[in-house]
Amino acid sequence: MTTLSLPVLEETAAAGQRSAILGTYKRAPLEIVGGRGVELLGADGRAYLDFSSGIGVNALGYGDAGIRQAIANAADTGVLHSSNLYSTAPGEVLAQRLVDSSFASSVFFCNSGAEANEGAFKFARRWARTIGGPRKHEIVALRGGFHGRLFASLAATDRPGYRAPFRPLAPGISICERNLGDLGHLLDRDTVAAVIVEPVQGEGGVRVLDEALLQGLRTLTREREIALIFDEVQCGLGRTGTLFAYEQSGVVPDMVTLAKPLAGGLPMGAVLLSEEIARTIQPGDHATTFGGGPFVAAVALHVFDRLSDVALLRSVTENGKWMESQLTSLVASTPRVRAVRGVGYMWGIDVVEPAAGAVARALEAGLLILSAGDYTLRLLPPLVASRDELRAGLSILEGVLS
Ligand SMILES: Cc1ncc(COP(=O)(O)O)c(C=O)c1O
Repeated sequence: MTTLSLPVLEETAAAGQRSAILGTYKRAPLEIVGGRGVELLGADGRAYLDFSSGIGVNALGYGDAGIRQAIANAADTGVLHSSNLYSTAPGEVLAQRLVDSSFASSVFFCNSGAEANEGAFKFARRWARTIGGPRKHEIVALRGGFHGRLFASLAATDRPGYRAPFRPLAPGISICERNLGDLGHLLDRDTVAAVIVEPVQGEGGVRVLDEALLQGLRTLTREREIALIFDEVQCGLGRTGTLFAYEQSGVVPDMVTLAKPLAGGLPMGAVLLSEEIARTIQPGDHATTFGGGPFVAAVALHVFDRLSDVALLRSVTENGKWMESQLTSLVASTPRVRAVRGVGYMWGIDVVEPAAGAVARALEAGLLILSAGDYTLRLLPPLVASRDELRAGLSILEGVLS
């Protein structure tokens, strides 16, 4: 593997020194200095097979020639940022591509997944107020969902430990059980503006939501004039084998939020809006300094074209089915594995031990994986991982869990 050029820290937290970075992250004992394809190179000189993709971001892996060229071309223009006071071609073209590939009529660009969801909540409230007055403002999220760490997105996130120290969270946001009976009770036409769901819950344990639940929710929300938001920050843009995860169930939402892989590792988020909602948004209703700037949008344009490629999506679907069969046989052969769930390149593995221990052993064995809750391992390989690379990773995992 060719080493790229991240400098190696001489005194790191990993080496027992205190890091000056605020202690919000529990870091693994690995310093990354380079990457190629599906492998990351550690400062320890070892290559690690990466089945975490920087938590679902690096869909095209590391050192991708196309991304590097797009970055060089975008940098050559001299305009990394121009503000949203003026138009630039990359953002306009990217927005049009997203619209042409989806149900949406407009796109709002921002910088992260949490920001995309916060934007979607505002757009939902703006629309709902227009059609139903100020009482119609409640937002409902689902049990097991994760939507970000800002005040409103955290209020929609079902992780008690993440929420408790920061109360009061944003008001008017509640969490409902994942069934149509409870949703039917809670979704009051006069007071609810929107429901937000991850069609495949990621952080909450990799749960593919039932088609019948999503279809029933679509019917309820249509009948009661409530916006349906799909948070596809983690499961969107090819990860499930279709460009958008909503295509899997055939349920068309009113808004979709995107982020993680959108700009190939540069920070970017987006909200896709239906014509009906977009029509109610006025200049000044929402804004962000950096969102959709020409540099990040030019890189995202390249990434989006690559992730829309039918051959890539077909390979994610086919390899995903293969992974399902391999992981299912792991349940039968490995007493430490209780169940597996997932689709495409997004898999959760319930284990009988704390997930953190298995993640640490996998790292020692040269495989980077994630947890999703206390007893679930999560695999999010780059979408360009080949069958052989997947096989190599699963074989390391099997050794770690046997
Ligand atoms: C489904 C989902 N929504 C929102 C977020 C928040 O994204 P960000 O960390 O970019 O704010 C995440 C992050 O993991 C996510 O998985």
